[in-house]
Amino acid sequence: MKKNIAVLKGDGIGPEIVDQALLVLDKVAEKYGHEFSYTSVDIGGCSIDKHGVPITEEGMAICKSSDSVLLGAVGGPKWDNVDPSIRPEKALLAVRKELGLFANLRPTKLFPQLAEASPLKESIVGNGIDLLIVRELTGGVYFGKRRTEVVNGEKVATDEMPYSEHEIERIGRVAFETARKRGKRVASVDKANVLDSSRLWRATMHRISEEYPDVEYSDILVDNTAMQLIKNPGQFDVIVTENMFGDILSDEASMLTGSIGMMPSASLSSGTLGMYEPIHGSAPDIAGMDVANPIGTIMSVAMMLRYSFDMIEEADAIEAAVNCVLDDGYRTADIWRDGFKKIGCAEMGAAVAARL
Ligand code: IPM
Ligand code: MG
Repeated sequence: MKKNIAVLKGDGIGPEIVDQALLVLDKVAEKYGHEFSYTSVDIGGCSIDKHGVPITEEGMAICKSSDSVLLGAVGGPKWDNVDPSIRPEKALLAVRKELGLFANLRPTKLFPQLAEASPLKESIVGNGIDLLIVRELTGGVYFGKRRTEVVNGEKVATDEMPYSEHEIERIGRVAFETARKRGKRVASVDKANVLDSSRLWRATMHRISEEYPDVEYSDILVDNTAMQLIKNPGQFDVIVTENMFGDILSDEASMLTGSIGMMPSASLSSGTLGMYEPIHGSAPDIAGMDVANPIGTIMSVAMMLRYSFDMIEEADAIEAAVNCVLDDGYRTADIWRDGFKKIGCAEMGAAVAARL
């Protein structure tokens, strides 16, 4: 198969982790007889520096017409004080919105080899962690109206958090359909004791849940979820939630896996076009030092093969290769401990490609 991939390396550690994922993709192409062509698009701070905007119209058009998008990370202190209308993060939100990527899948899986890298006790994570966060990605407070105005002589800032029934329904269906292929349990996370948007969320999820009698459904408040993720993470299978709750809970959940550097994500539309990225940020403090963990990005290309290209065997092969490399004792700094072989970002990419 021939596929065109838009490659958005971005800022900070973005370029170095994406390079490792491309190395792995090239290996897949060689081994399985595919052809992947890459078109580079500037995004984030590097695009602001070069073009004055975090993504150009031309760049956006390339993303839209490609078969899938691979992203590293955006942002950094250098661009913290630019006008909010051109912040690096704006480009990421624009790509999500313009490509219609409403469903963000964030699998949280603890490789058993890394049980000791998790800050949680063995008694809590020892039985393995395998949950999936399904985050709504193109609605809510991320895309609601915002304004800062002066009221009675002081500044007042407002961010609206709108949700419409069709937005809730379609993400709900993704959660239930996905749960059917996994542990058949969906927990819908909201703040229905306070927010109108959450009350509509809950009512809509209840309605949809009736179409999936084979899936066990429950509601849980977001603050309680934050606690339960630490107390008893094994209770969860699929967690479905709105945009900002999903942003926060997925960072929390990532630590169950030992390091945020391990976590991939897929942002899906109603078609096959998707964007794939690790959930972590640009980590400017370690950029260019060859110490970042590329596994989250490598696992993201596995998700690309699985969800956008229907290359299931190839995706399984990447995940198995990562597993082997961990079995071999190789660790980047974030997951390293005594007795293991500490390697850099490029060495980790090469090790996974070699194992493939
Ligand atoms: C994420 C990130 C983004 C988000 C930022 C960079 C805008 O934190 O993908 O989780 O908040 O969605
Ligand atoms: Mg986040």
